[in-house]
Amino acid sequence: MNKQPSATLADVQAVYSGAEGDLWELIMGQQIHIGGLVSSMDLAEKANIQAGSRGIDFCCCTGAGMRFLVRFRDVARMTGVDATEKVIALGRRRCEEEGLADRISFVLADVCDCGLPGGSADFVWGEDAWCYVVDKPRMIAEAARLVRPGGTVAFTDWVEGDTPMDDAEMERFLRFMKFPNVETRDGYAKLLTENGCNVAVCENTGRYAPCVDLYLNMIGMQLTYDALRLIGFDQSLLAAIGDEMQFMQGLAHAGKLVQGLFVATKE
Ligand SMILES: C[S@@+](CC[C@H](N)C(=O)[O-])C[C@H]1O[C@@H](n2cnc3c(N)ncnc32)[C@H](O)[C@@H]1O
Repeated sequence: MNKQPSATLADVQAVYSGAEGDLWELIMGQQIHIGGLVSSMDLAEKANIQAGSRGIDFCCCTGAGMRFLVRFRDVARMTGVDATEKVIALGRRRCEEEGLADRISFVLADVCDCGLPGGSADFVWGEDAWCYVVDKPRMIAEAARLVRPGGTVAFTDWVEGDTPMDDAEMERFLRFMKFPNVETRDGYAKLLTENGCNVAVCENTGRYAPCVDLYLNMIGMQLTYDALRLIGFDQSLLAAIGDEMQFMQGLAHAGKLVQGLFVATKE
């Protein structure tokens, strides 16, 4: 696992309380993860998420993933855990507006120690967000604690590809994304196994590179004004963000940065 110890939870909370988080939502939509609904459906299928089950979404942001699970998989009840007050307030409003508030609730907490009862969930879910978490071993231990025996830990995340980044690439990538560190597929598989979970799926979805191409095209060809509006019409800042996204595009096409998909069953 590669690290940038300077990125803290406070940095991530600042991102999702401000313009940077709004920019991610502009580019990606309410589901702030690579592949949107297609990715959610893929994960739900591979994890065999059942109608009537109960789940916990780690780093749920505004809860778009939970609304997906309730609508499209008929999940009975979802609890979302997120550390940023602003996204939780917005998520509660969106659940009310969509008539789903009776089945979806939010908890403001760090996913490493969220305070929910152990063994209470059929599954713990996550989509492209665990890369922000400083202490990944503690987070995976917490996910495994919450899942009942036979239950599932299912998530996608940004992970290193099979071709490693060099130190300068890693440093630049982590700094731009404000990730404290980034896992590998093997690293996550090891953490899951160490916490009593049998890994059934641990794969590269292949979606990262085409999606980052799409995002760059959207900013450059369609949403330029809207992106500028979110950042106070600062054209040099948008150009700098574009440069960093092009850098990530290069990493993705070189197989150094991928979206990993993981499904594991608690013993
Ligand atoms: C990319 S967004 C999540 C997107 C969401 N999963 C989706 O698919 O729409 C990242 C979220 O992770 C949350 N986050 C990061 N570190 C966290 C932590 N240690 N505990 C709880 N939430 C955290 C942030 O507050 C932010 O809302």
